[in-house]
Amino acid sequence: MSRKKIIAGNWKMNLTPSEAKEFVTNLKSKINTDKCDVVLCVPAIDIPVVLDTVKGTNIEVGAQNMHFEENGAFTGEISARMLTDMGVKYVIIGHSERREYFGETDQTVNKKVLKALNNHIIPIICIGETLQQREEGITVDLVRLQTKIALKGVSREQAKNIVIAYEPIWAIGTGKTATSQQAEEVCKAIREVLGEIYNVDIASKIRIQYGGSVNASNASELFSMPNIDGGLVGGASLKPEFEQVINF
Ligand code: 13P
Repeated sequence: MSRKKIIAGNWKMNLTPSEAKEFVTNLKSKINTDKCDVVLCVPAIDIPVVLDTVKGTNIEVGAQNMHFEENGAFTGEISARMLTDMGVKYVIIGHSERREYFGETDQTVNKKVLKALNNHIIPIICIGETLQQREEGITVDLVRLQTKIALKGVSREQAKNIVIAYEPIWAIGTGKTATSQQAEEVCKAIREVLGEIYNVDIASKIRIQYGGSVNASNASELFSMPNIDGGLVGGASLKPEFEQVINF
């Protein structure tokens, strides 16, 4: 089963709308989107300008978060329907920074995943262990549990379209990339649990990204591993080297 790679940039809280326009204008002329899907997950306020700038290309736009309720008194939040209405196709759910600084839990991740799917938005579901958890030897147990809770109530048909991003927290923004073997081992374990939840055929269709200090020099090795279907890229997605990551 060959899965098309998917490379997503997570800009986090960087680039104003005018900086975003300049960056994407430059990027789009340099990348080849034939061999992989490219998604730019940008700050909510940049979404309109980035959607406009990628028109006529295969680049898709994603959000970095959304609320799990339909609408209502949730000051500062953005709903799935708002994203769909704009033309957003992807949303990052449960990034470790959201879990750490904004109180997100496996349970809120699950609610958001269901809401995104019901609004035809593909969730990029982030899971991964801390350094302490890795040292305690519980990485695989943890990502299995995170995966199971995130996907509670997600049908087989819906599951085929989801993306899972394995992001070891100790590798995020630290320059300390997981080795391709470490990343492959966990991505393989995630695919195994997907096979248990659904079946082997569906598990073989779900794309699993690696994230954590991906850059131009390690991307091709990481993406050549059998269970790694691309990357969720932070820091390097804001630099000219993102072209090389995409053209890996
Ligand atoms: P870095 O690529 O900067 O380590 O960030 C990874 C990340 O958190 C992507 O979501």
